[in-house]
Amino acid sequence: NIPSLAAAYAAYFPIGAAVSPEVIRSHRDVLTRHFSSVTAENHMKFALVHPEPDRYDFAAADDIVAFAQANHMKVRGHTLVWHNQTPSWVFEGSDGSPVKPADLRARMREHIHTVMSRYRGRVYCWDVVNEAVADSGEAWLRDSKWHAILGPDYLRDAYIFAHEADPDALLFYNDYNECEEEKREKIYRLVRDLRAQDVPVHGIGMQGHWGLVRPAADDIRRTIERFASLGVQIQITELDITLYDWQDRRTDLRTPPPEWLERQAERYGEIFAIFREYKDVITGVTLWGVADDWTWRDDFPVRGRKDWPLLFDTAHQPKAAFWRALP
Ligand code: XIL
Repeated sequence: NIPSLAAAYAAYFPIGAAVSPEVIRSHRDVLTRHFSSVTAENHMKFALVHPEPDRYDFAAADDIVAFAQANHMKVRGHTLVWHNQTPSWVFEGSDGSPVKPADLRARMREHIHTVMSRYRGRVYCWDVVNEAVADSGEAWLRDSKWHAILGPDYLRDAYIFAHEADPDALLFYNDYNECEEEKREKIYRLVRDLRAQDVPVHGIGMQGHWGLVRPAADDIRRTIERFASLGVQIQITELDITLYDWQDRRTDLRTPPPEWLERQAERYGEIFAIFREYKDVITGVTLWGVADDWTWRDDFPVRGRKDWPLLFDTAHQPKAAFWRALP
């Protein structure tokens, strides 16, 4: 008798999964039974919805939103302004020269308005800007094309445009390595400065691409508390726990070592216990996938290496991690 994960967490926060139309087709049962929210793993990103200046393609994103509505699930929007998966035309003039700042700003506004307006009332929150802060040991803000062409004001503008497009949507800033002290403080400073200028940023997304050892439980707690001290809500937006040590480059494993799975189960138990402790500030926990047969971790950070980072196994059965994650 397998309890529903989402039902078990109904008193805490929605439990989400990143999906595509293919994943919805192939994982329908586990998805509808255990999850109460979805995110498009790729299909709302700039390159996929807006591949050419005058062409939008919403077919896959529409399917995902329709599936969610039919099954009474929430939808988190991901993502509007990012340095990855953004077509090169965005940053070019019509003759291939660099785009003029005023034109790029207008494109950003038009893109945000078009995408958010389409899903108004159906997508309740958006990762407006993704990964704008540089990694530890580097500058404060990432040296992206958005930043290089528009300067740091592109951040403020993105949130203002998003708020115009859908005043009811909750607007998030989303990033990874969020529990490392230096990066955490850079994210903190970014959101603090925006809010000090009355820019509408309502939440911080902690991606949660974590490992068996790091980040330590105390660093997760410290990060939640630090971000929450800004008066924003927190969501865990892309949770998965790789079985590989960060230095491990081997590509030959075909089945997961049992002792790693056991450690992963303990980790999921520890992490979900922390999330429950902070249920007053955490308003959603999304896993970056549904089951271990389909995970971006199979290609990242090492290409073509099987990983098993989620709560359900390759046959869509609950793992030890699932049982430990339950309240
Ligand atoms: C990843 C997807 O999972 C992959 O399918 C795609 O090839 C690349 O992007 N941080 C994010 C997500 O914010 O959008 C990324 O998703 C994973 C890292």
